[in-house]
Amino acid sequence: MSREFDFDTPVERRGTDSEKWLRWADQDVLPLWVADMDFAAPPAVVEALRQRVDHGVFGYALPDASHGRAVVDALERSCGWSVSPEWLVWLPGLVCGLTVACRAVGDPGDGVLVNPPVYPPFRRVPPLVDRRLQTAFLGGDNEAGWRLDIDAMDAAADARTRLLLLCHPHNPVGRAWRRDELEEVAAFAERRDLVVCSDEIHSELLLEPGRPHVPFATISPAVAARTITLLAPSKTFNVPGLGAAVAVISDPGLRARFKQAMSGIVPQVNVLGLLAAKVAWTEGGPWREALCDYLRGNRDYLADRVARLPPLTMAPVEATYLAWIDARGWALADPAAHVLAHGLGLSSGADFGSPGYLRLNFGCPRATLAAACDRLAAAASAAVQS
Ligand SMILES: Cc1ncc(COP(=O)(O)O)c(C=O)c1O
Repeated sequence: MSREFDFDTPVERRGTDSEKWLRWADQDVLPLWVADMDFAAPPAVVEALRQRVDHGVFGYALPDASHGRAVVDALERSCGWSVSPEWLVWLPGLVCGLTVACRAVGDPGDGVLVNPPVYPPFRRVPPLVDRRLQTAFLGGDNEAGWRLDIDAMDAAADARTRLLLLCHPHNPVGRAWRRDELEEVAAFAERRDLVVCSDEIHSELLLEPGRPHVPFATISPAVAARTITLLAPSKTFNVPGLGAAVAVISDPGLRARFKQAMSGIVPQVNVLGLLAAKVAWTEGGPWREALCDYLRGNRDYLADRVARLPPLTMAPVEATYLAWIDARGWALADPAAHVLAHGLGLSSGADFGSPGYLRLNFGCPRATLAAACDRLAAAASAAVQS
């Protein structure tokens, strides 16, 4: 247990309108699927929200200079990225930002490139706004390690490809792309004249101490000019239900197109989400560090348990609290249904474009994770005996 913060004591989430816990509410299932954590938000955030709730007035909210300053300072502190407050566009969610980016770049029928296996909305969103989905799978696997496959990206793109949706760090494979890898992506984007929308929602969850996140936009000023970076406090500080996110767009023309694509559709950020974002980014540092220590312990515990369950393999998790488990060796049509029958609710790899895999959310107390591993072990022994 962290000396200052308690991640060990379970918080009862049943009966709190939690999407994660409602899904199998009437069954004995541990739900380690959708990406929110079973921890309370940082005490400073909870206290600020309590005071705002006590105020009792929940009118329309508007970010002021202090909100912009919170983002600017957090980026400078965490990864040395200097951004200007006028580059920021507040959003009620990251997925909304992905959709707006697709609408803002190019025309109906143009191509949007994504790298599965990837967070499901990456593949779902482009067709919703009449863009053609183009897929270039990541190279590698859990044992060899995952990489961005530039040749596959070249093969998937065509003359009408306008946008690359980059997931950095990558959900679900857990890679935090290195600078040299990002440089290759940047060269590809420049060669094909693409805008890059870099979803960096997990960028404050790099689990190796001292390893900084490298924002894609920091590769060069020219790269920044073709980049939309999406950020949010929601994963790091466990406030996804409060709906606050921000796009960082340095190029004025691209920013104007992005804002135009939002108009009339995207609501402003609500008063609680805006406050949570500001307080998390200004005061949440010590909590975040303690969280990353705790998650590193969970990751190592889980990796050790999975290593004892061949043929399962787990990708090394550099960032996020999500483990990508290869269950293809079980040779089952639906491994997620199989683990569910053993009381464990995981995300199916099929939703990410890779059937046969499972995604496990280890953002929970260690005791919950241990119980989940027992259930996974029971599922594994049933699978190899069948
Ligand atoms: C890569 C990535 N982007 C976006 C989101 C969701 O963002 P939001 O809830 O703000 O729409 C998630 C949630 O898991 C995610 O993993």
